[in-house]
Amino acid sequence: MRWKLTDFVAAMSVAALALVACTAPPSDDTPARTRSQSDNLVLASAKALMPPEGTQRADLPLPDSEGAMLLDQYCTVCHGLSSPGTHSTTDWPVVMRRMWLRTERVAEQHDIPVPNAAERLTMTRYMLEHAFEVAGDDLPDFVGREYYMLTCERCHALPDPRQHTSQDWPAVVTRMRQHMVDLLGNAPIEAELQDISAYLQQVSR
Ligand code: HEC
Ligand code: HEC
Repeated sequence: MRWKLTDFVAAMSVAALALVACTAPPSDDTPARTRSQSDNLVLASAKALMPPEGTQRADLPLPDSEGAMLLDQYCTVCHGLSSPGTHSTTDWPVVMRRMWLRTERVAEQHDIPVPNAAERLTMTRYMLEHAFEVAGDDLPDFVGREYYMLTCERCHALPDPRQHTSQDWPAVVTRMRQHMVDLLGNAPIEAELQDISAYLQQVSR
């Protein structure tokens, strides 16, 4: 293999450190210990946001479509494959744009494939086609609506309650609770989560 994950992450950490350098220029007399500590922090914080390993192309919607094949080709170089259903229609264009920038930034030095304009469009369209739908501003007014709106928009756009059945929502809410614990270090109390689940079940399809 020509590349290693640590190489990319190191290259990206250098870019991030260069940003930090605007306020505190690292000089040659920066103690080595401090520098590797901030490298480690950048690495850990980037990794906390990366799609986890383990998703295969076969797990994606329409796995033999051109979009899924391109994702498998270009998006597995630095981290695991991300399923289009994990982000909303409003979030994907922004995430994809960031990924092109990250790819271009390290491509030459690390000899990784860079998608062309047509391929980028195909991948973005594929993501949007299978992304989760965002709620409109006509959410029905039942008990739990306020908690839903406050809690479920903290990390991504507010999902449209109609995209899951009433049987499916409680499991999604439980998974989201775990994301909150892992990523934010806190989660709403059980009573609020139950109100959210009840609300979603009420207005689901
Ligand atoms: C050059 C390395 C590299 C490539 C190639 C790459 N990524 Fe990433 N990706 C990263 C890094 C670093 C992060 C964590 C920081 C961030 O979110 O920008 C990340 C994070 C992500 C996240 C989580 C961020 C969020 O907002 O939820 C998603 C989803 C993602 N990548 C999707 C993709 C897709 C889809 C592709 C292919 C089009 C891709 N990545 C290709 C480096 C890469
Ligand atoms: C701590 C951040 C965070 C919060 C807060 C959060 N989510 Fe998520 N959500 C995620 C992540 C990460 C993913 C993608 C991975 C996954 O699907 O588990 C996601 C994906 C989703 C998806 C798309 C995947 C699917 O199964 O349909 C839905 C729907 C969703 N969240 C609903 C909710 C609801 C409802 C709440 C409020 C109870 C909520 N989220 C709060 C992080 C969060």
